[in-house]
Amino acid sequence: MKTTWWKAEEPGAVEQAGKLLREGGLVAIPTETVYGLAANAWDSTAVEGIFAAKGRPQDNPLIIHIARESQVQELAAAVPALAQKLFQAFWPGPLTVVLPKSSRVPSQVNGNLPTVAVRFPSHPVAQAVIQAAGVPLAAPSANRSGRPSPTSAQHVWEDLSGRIAGILDGGSCPVGVESTVVSLVQDTPRLLRPGSITVEQLRAVIGEVDVDPAVLSPLQKETAASSPGMKYQHYAPLARVILVEGPYAAYRDFVNSHAGPGVAALCYEGEQEGLRTDTVCFGREQDASGQARALFDALRQLDARGIRIAYARCPRQEGIGLAVYNRLLRAAGFEVIHIG
Ligand code: TXA
Ligand code: MG
Repeated sequence: MKTTWWKAEEPGAVEQAGKLLREGGLVAIPTETVYGLAANAWDSTAVEGIFAAKGRPQDNPLIIHIARESQVQELAAAVPALAQKLFQAFWPGPLTVVLPKSSRVPSQVNGNLPTVAVRFPSHPVAQAVIQAAGVPLAAPSANRSGRPSPTSAQHVWEDLSGRIAGILDGGSCPVGVESTVVSLVQDTPRLLRPGSITVEQLRAVIGEVDVDPAVLSPLQKETAASSPGMKYQHYAPLARVILVEGPYAAYRDFVNSHAGPGVAALCYEGEQEGLRTDTVCFGREQDASGQARALFDALRQLDARGIRIAYARCPRQEGIGLAVYNRLLRAAGFEVIHIG
């Protein structure tokens, strides 16, 4: 299949992408978080195509994207009062809400779960293409399954060219990590995936919010995943990533004593000078938002440079830092070394 690359600002590009989507095509679209691989959510064949193009396990459900708050009524069987509060506070924006599912949603979207995940993105191109399509869009991140999520059209091209109809290039994604996912189908709201909207922000609006144990630890074999995506290896570059927790001086000494061919430091900006290995940076130490924007591109750079082992700085687990830590922990397969 030939994959068309449109610049979002080209006249007619958004309309063409929208028409293709309505008619069952797969198009990668920019959002404020990461690029999504979109399909018409009502079209079960198109939705099946997403799983095939990504190589995604069938039981990992998709998020449905809308461009008007009222569209949530078509997708959810019920919209509780807490959901309305969240929409008012955070929509449009990088928050996905899990609700009881309407029977209209094809089972291909979410592997027969009784729930549906809905998000109203704030990115103007995402909103325009959903409107042009005239239908809600099911869209996972537009990477090959298991690879780091794409934060630029180039990343999508690397993973999916030849497998999808088109890519709508809207530049790099301003947030850089996927949306916060909160489920409202338990007695107490539950954070399933941290993102740039923090658990503290959620609590300020809806009160008590539990953090799912899978956010910070590997899923135990016996427990069922609240979010099926949590059980898969994620964001993994080919390189083995190891998180090194401790102060910079101890990190530097550790990395320098392990320097060698194919070894790199996945460090913060400004730390390269003291390190005797190849380095890839992901933002500044005090700037968790900058780390979020840079992380997935940094993971892809490791592979582009043929790195075999990357020792990564360990982000602070507060605010959006929790999301950065969560993604790095998965990229590292939960391998963490404590030093200093
Ligand atoms: O920022 C984002 O959310 C991006 C952009 C494209 O919008 N999308 C994204 O989709 O990250 P994906 O498929 O890569 O991640 C969706 C996550 C998965 O972990 C999945 O298991 C979870 O959301 N999820 C989807 N539907 C769910 C449901 N009904 N119940 C629980 N978890 C669900
Ligand atoms: Mg994904």
